[in-house]
Amino acid sequence: MGSYLSHLECSACGQTYSADELRTVCPACGKVLLARYDLARAREQTRLKDEPGRPTSLWRYPELLPVRDPSNVVTLGEGWTPLLSANRLGRALGCRRLMVKDEGLNPTGSFKARGMAVAVSRAKELGARSLATPSAGNAACAMSAYAARAGLEAYVFMPEDAPATNQELCLSYGAHLFLVRGLISDCGRIVRREGPGRGWFDVSTLREPYRVEGKKTMGYELAEQLGWRLPDVIVYPTGGGTGIVGMWKAFSEMQELGWIDDRRPRMVSVQSTGCAPIVRAFQNGQTYAEPWAEARTIAGGLRVPSAIGDYLILRAIRDSGGTAIAVSDDEIVEAMKRMSRDEGLFVSTEAAATVAGLDQLIRSGSVDPDAEIVLFLTGSGLLNPATTSVSRPVLDPDDVDGCRRVIDTQP
Ligand SMILES: Cc1ncc(COP(=O)(O)O)c(C=O)c1O
Ligand SMILES: [Zn+2]
Repeated sequence: MGSYLSHLECSACGQTYSADELRTVCPACGKVLLARYDLARAREQTRLKDEPGRPTSLWRYPELLPVRDPSNVVTLGEGWTPLLSANRLGRALGCRRLMVKDEGLNPTGSFKARGMAVAVSRAKELGARSLATPSAGNAACAMSAYAARAGLEAYVFMPEDAPATNQELCLSYGAHLFLVRGLISDCGRIVRREGPGRGWFDVSTLREPYRVEGKKTMGYELAEQLGWRLPDVIVYPTGGGTGIVGMWKAFSEMQELGWIDDRRPRMVSVQSTGCAPIVRAFQNGQTYAEPWAEARTIAGGLRVPSAIGDYLILRAIRDSGGTAIAVSDDEIVEAMKRMSRDEGLFVSTEAAATVAGLDQLIRSGSVDPDAEIVLFLTGSGLLNPATTSVSRPVLDPDDVDGCRRVIDTQP
């Protein structure tokens, strides 16, 4: 059950490279390198469907992951998250077949664990000693945790207003944390300026070939959990876009493996009205996205003014017949509450954006209410609960009348 990894290929110029050395972007054109596998051989030799004993983590697909020696796998049990039906939320939004994939159950509370588990494992396998990443918060937590488990140094750079819980988590894992007066793009500039001279391996989103391999397992799992088919619509909160790019890649791989047919979901990218470079480029028919000026939103993971994989995100959306829409911070906060109240799922702001986005799409008629829809709830709300501040009564246990009065007057 080894990896069928064969080489790296540039997603823009097509140049190929050996996969067995540490690499970031394409040396020829600076764009995104993607891992390629010998899928014909994997198709002949892999019997996933008849092998019940595989681990219930993303490592159940080792053939399609880049780690060559299983002893290099650094795992905290990431992946194989529940695919839940969301009937009450579905009724409220007016759609009949709504499901959610609860990525908040991953180690460190978000789907970033998938990408980092695979990137850190592979970086360790290829000899990296210290890792660096710019992050809105969640990716830094994941990288710090996996680096700790692998015995590697972690250097993380976050905007100074990144959630306090994210900062505390990174510090608890022993990472070197730096707060940056600026956005994630400014954090990235520091990593690229300082990293090479200091021996840091840069694991920024899509500037390193293997985080997307971890994220693509969301696509493999979704197909497997649905009995080797895909839903009609996938709604995904998009910042750097690794998840959407990864899942789109997974679908092609699975078709070549003979695991699914050629039907594809419509891929819907949700961004914030305060930072929507992909939505704007999609609406303007552009293949690349202009950087967004003055990006501002409470959904920190969506505050990505410029994504290196913009052309890959836009390609996936268009090739799938999907769309891209923006939602406001107020809609996001409302959606967070609705998700908790209707389904018992306390989700992050980014995850809540999918609910707000779907609401718009159903109302505007862009998504058929009878379609089978999956929302990717990419993170847990526990990491950044401050957005749900509601006043709460305090009781004095010895003041019996006072207690009763307060309890009786609660709405
Ligand atoms: C919870 C959450 N959802 C979504 C995103 C955006 O993910 P991607 O970079 O894959 O577009 C992030 C990124 O920080 C995030 O933390
Ligand atoms: Zn290239």
